Amino acid sequence: LEISPFIASLPKVELHIHIEGTLSPALRWKLAHRNNIPIPYKTYPELLDSYKITYNHRREVNGDNGAPTFLETYFAGCQVLCTEDDFYELAMDYFRKASEMNVRYVEPFFDIQAHTKRGVAAEAVLDGFLRAQRDGAKVYGVRSNWIFCFLRDESLESGLEAYRTARPWGRTNDGKGKGLFHAVGLASNEYDRPPLLFEEGFRLAKEDGLHVTMHCDVDQKDAVDHVHEAIFKVCAGQGSERIDHGLNAIDRPDLIEGLKERNIGLTLCPHAYHRRQATETLFPKIRKLWDEGVKICINSDDPTYMHNVWIDGNMMKVYEYCRFSKGDMIRLVRNAVEMSWADNEVKKEIL
Ligand code: HPA
Ligand code: ZN
Repeated sequence: LEISPFIASLPKVELHIHIEGTLSPALRWKLAHRNNIPIPYKTYPELLDSYKITYNHRREVNGDNGAPTFLETYFAGCQVLCTEDDFYELAMDYFRKASEMNVRYVEPFFDIQAHTKRGVAAEAVLDGFLRAQRDGAKVYGVRSNWIFCFLRDESLESGLEAYRTARPWGRTNDGKGKGLFHAVGLASNEYDRPPLLFEEGFRLAKEDGLHVTMHCDVDQKDAVDHVHEAIFKVCAGQGSERIDHGLNAIDRPDLIEGLKERNIGLTLCPHAYHRRQATETLFPKIRKLWDEGVKICINSDDPTYMHNVWIDGNMMKVYEYCRFSKGDMIRLVRNAVEMSWADNEVKKEIL
């Protein structure tokens, strides 16, 4: 699907993108050699070919046939990221790409546990991103507030330790933080890992004045139950402020009502679902959420691992397949601004 001039020129806001999911094959190849990290591809074309495969998120769907899952390939990519400069380059590469697509503001996720568990210092990750946050705004005009993710398939204790380590880089309400991240999220494999397992992490973050979101990925085991917890249960019943994905809410009227009543928006990533669902199945669901009045916005998730479809390609898909008008597309960007946690002065300047 070719990006139309209207979609290309639309100012954009991205609220659901994993910074590690923007690692390009070119940078991965370069860093593997710079850092002496072995990768299982002998040539660059072989590495490129590995990106053409659509990996499954759920091992149990196919049985264990030996094929890696999507997240295994994503974390394999992370292995080349070692130094502060690597994390800086990763983020600056993304900000350059974002500016080319007219993205004005972003809230990128980062998975610090994926790096510290390989022996990378937390400071290298956080200082690299902090420098890129400043330079991305200065050099490319892309402002950002970042989101610390708990890896939900690791223990709560590991997540809490990572949070305590990263906390000085957060925009905490004691006014002492460095201002890199202003929210926490919940990512990685959700199999038998419902949001409530991480309630203590969310509570700590809320006490620190940070915002809260969580992944409820599409068609995972117990997806509907996870959405229910995210809306009605976490943080003493106050719920999540946003839900990442959450498309399965469409399956139950009480969830649709809960989202609307509590004004919880969904950060949707259409191409991520389109890899698995037919056009005629998927886009009517997105259209129905819209028609029901659920607040949604359009995002890209892990673009380099998802056939290089970025936010513009994702917006193009809903423009075409949901039959949204130009006015609807502008409304979708406005939704993203409203769902964002940018300061009010910044919100006014984005569009
Ligand atoms: N799902 C869950 N966690 C993730 C993903 C994803 O697609 N990408 C990066 N972290
Ligand atoms: Zn995601």
